[in-house]
Amino acid sequence: MKVCVIGTGYVGLVTGACLAHVGHHVICVDNNAEKVKLMQSGQSPIYEPGLSEVLQSAIAAGTIEFTTDLAAGVHHGEVLFIAVGTPPLPSGESDTQYVEAVARGIGQNLNGGYKVIVNKSTVPIGSGDWVRMVIVDGLTESQTAAKDAKFDVVSNPEFLREGSAIYDTFNPDRIVLGSNVPEAIAIMKELYAPIVNHEASEDKTLPPVPVLVTELNSAEMVKYAANAFLATKISFINEVANICDRVGADVLQVAQGIGLDSRIGNKFLQAGLGWGGSCFPKDVAALVHTADDYGYEAVLLKATVQTNQHQRLLVVEKLQQTLKILKGKTIGLLGLTFKPDTDDMRDAPALTLTEALTRLGAKVKAYDPLISQSEIRHTLSNITVEADIEKLAAGCDALVLVTDWQQFQSLDYNRLASLMNNPILIDGRNFLNKAALKKAGFSYVGIGH
Ligand code: UDX
Repeated sequence: MKVCVIGTGYVGLVTGACLAHVGHHVICVDNNAEKVKLMQSGQSPIYEPGLSEVLQSAIAAGTIEFTTDLAAGVHHGEVLFIAVGTPPLPSGESDTQYVEAVARGIGQNLNGGYKVIVNKSTVPIGSGDWVRMVIVDGLTESQTAAKDAKFDVVSNPEFLREGSAIYDTFNPDRIVLGSNVPEAIAIMKELYAPIVNHEASEDKTLPPVPVLVTELNSAEMVKYAANAFLATKISFINEVANICDRVGADVLQVAQGIGLDSRIGNKFLQAGLGWGGSCFPKDVAALVHTADDYGYEAVLLKATVQTNQHQRLLVVEKLQQTLKILKGKTIGLLGLTFKPDTDDMRDAPALTLTEALTRLGAKVKAYDPLISQSEIRHTLSNITVEADIEKLAAGCDALVLVTDWQQFQSLDYNRLASLMNNPILIDGRNFLNKAALKKAGFSYVGIGH
């Protein structure tokens, strides 16, 4: 099928590359010419394991193209994905100006026939109808668009995780399609058939991916509700961890104990210094804001956010309990990104932590496998990023594990302890082997563990 993806951020590029990989002919449109050039050469502008390989194989097969020309993309696609950013405004609302510009541009360039316009961007609930209106506006004001062009808008929320985006796209738990137009749903089902039937997988025994067809607004709500539930689950286990700390229980054992109950499930029960990233903070805030707009106070979701804010600063409390005064002390952060296998620092707990520590007069150093001093200069001016772990540990009064990068489990902790002023380690993800660290001479502090 002929597909156009507008916006080549995380969601757009991964969707475009994976649909091209299963044989659709995809044109990706982005208004950043430099980025388009890079992608044309087979390079991914974002760090995502496996993405470059999928991209390069699609380029070699001739199933993917990149352009800045929106009209060319719109003319090509029978399915058009809107996958541009909806960043948060200070109020918590999503900024939908990019979605609006793209929808208008689609309308201005419609060239006849029937097209399905898919909303992949996470938009405020009710946006499907608004997108339709903006497209119609664009169509009406254009001199060249085909006035008889027909289209429908479908909401198709995205659930991929950074760091596992390719796996998640080929192996989704479900595909949600929001529309009550049978023709649009039939086209979307045909588009996703190779993914539903796991055509890209070697394992032919996999059951087909469930496809859920809903009303437009419900599909938009599914995205918010899923992220809000997962964020609440983490805040819940973090609260349990904080109680564990006080009563002398171990949250790892408690999580295992409750996770074996199939009604609860064992995923997203890792206590730590809180959730971050480009989705959870933005989506929970937007849902709280939407509820407010309709005169409803989302008390539980507000508590989810509040617990998370407290959790990020818990490490500061733990450092104060062990080091007392933080002024003049040097704290080393192991990891900066909001989670491993990504170079994304959006709303990362490390940002909150660094700000709080420097406010208390501590000196903050960090090491992250993917973040260098030059990359961080604009985000965090008050931190020194070291190029290796030994330099990080040298002269530190405590280390804090912020991101659960796999490689941090196999460091030479005996050597690191010998380089530090005080071998103290706050394990902000309960990720390291407590007994091994103690053996290496560390005083180990976990989160409810
Ligand atoms: C999330 C959703 O999982 C995905 O479905 C949606 O499309 C986008 O938002 P992502 O932001 O990539 O994906 O990261 P995720 O793996 O969900 O982790 C989010 C945050 O929660 C990270 O900061 C992570 O460290 C934290 N986390 C996750 C925990 O603290 N404990 C857990 O048990 C799981």
